[in-house]
Amino acid sequence: LRYLILSDMHGNWEALQTVLRGVRRKRFDRTLVLGDLVGYGAAPNQVIGSLPGLPGRLHIVRGNHDKVVAGIEAGQGFNEVALLAAHWTSRHLTAPHQTYLENLPEGPSVVFPGDESVAPFGDRLAICHGSPADEDCYVFAEAEAQQAFRAPPHAWLTFFGHTHLPCLFVLAEGRIGGLLLRGNGAMTLRRDRRYLINPGSIGQPRDRDPRASYMTYDARSRRLHWYRRRYPLQRAQQRIVRGGLPLSLAERLAHGV
Ligand SMILES: [Fe+2]
Repeated sequence: LRYLILSDMHGNWEALQTVLRGVRRKRFDRTLVLGDLVGYGAAPNQVIGSLPGLPGRLHIVRGNHDKVVAGIEAGQGFNEVALLAAHWTSRHLTAPHQTYLENLPEGPSVVFPGDESVAPFGDRLAICHGSPADEDCYVFAEAEAQQAFRAPPHAWLTFFGHTHLPCLFVLAEGRIGGLLLRGNGAMTLRRDRRYLINPGSIGQPRDRDPRASYMTYDARSRRLHWYRRRYPLQRAQQRIVRGGLPLSLAERLAHGV
């Protein structure tokens, strides 16, 4: 199976559209979307409206911004700008898109149950927004990664989002290592290790590289690829400014913060 992995679009239609155009000629069996479709960016309806056109079967979990925009949570942990953007998004969403957000499933979610006999960890694949231990937890460091590895569904490979940082945590012989993934690259995953992998953010990267971030994974070769893609970010910025959202949301896109 070939997977396309996308996370944290945050209402940035220009970034999502550019990424999808770039993978148009490739074949994918599944697309994994790790939450935060909306919030911050000014094109929430366009982003939600594009989901039916994603390649292969869609597996999706909700993000913390999706929950606040849908009215499932009030956004107590949000800063002023994030809360303002969530309220702006709620006001601008169409009724079907509002309903769609309300019904997004909570993670973790098993995408591929796998075969326990595949030594030594099986080959289960799961997705979540923050962590399998808690959908709202930020996995920045080894301590949070350890909790994530211990939590159900104990997958061999888990894709997560939320931090907007493309990175990989690996559990090998009881020890955890973390690695930030820069630019474009690839690696082959090993059966005798477990992985927590973040594809980075499509709509609001935060590793000082303003390019949209995403990944692909081929289960047969166990080959993971990570990519960065330049997109017309001035158009996303103009949309934010014209929409009356805070200027800082437009500015940060240019700096990747
Ligand atoms: Fe996010």
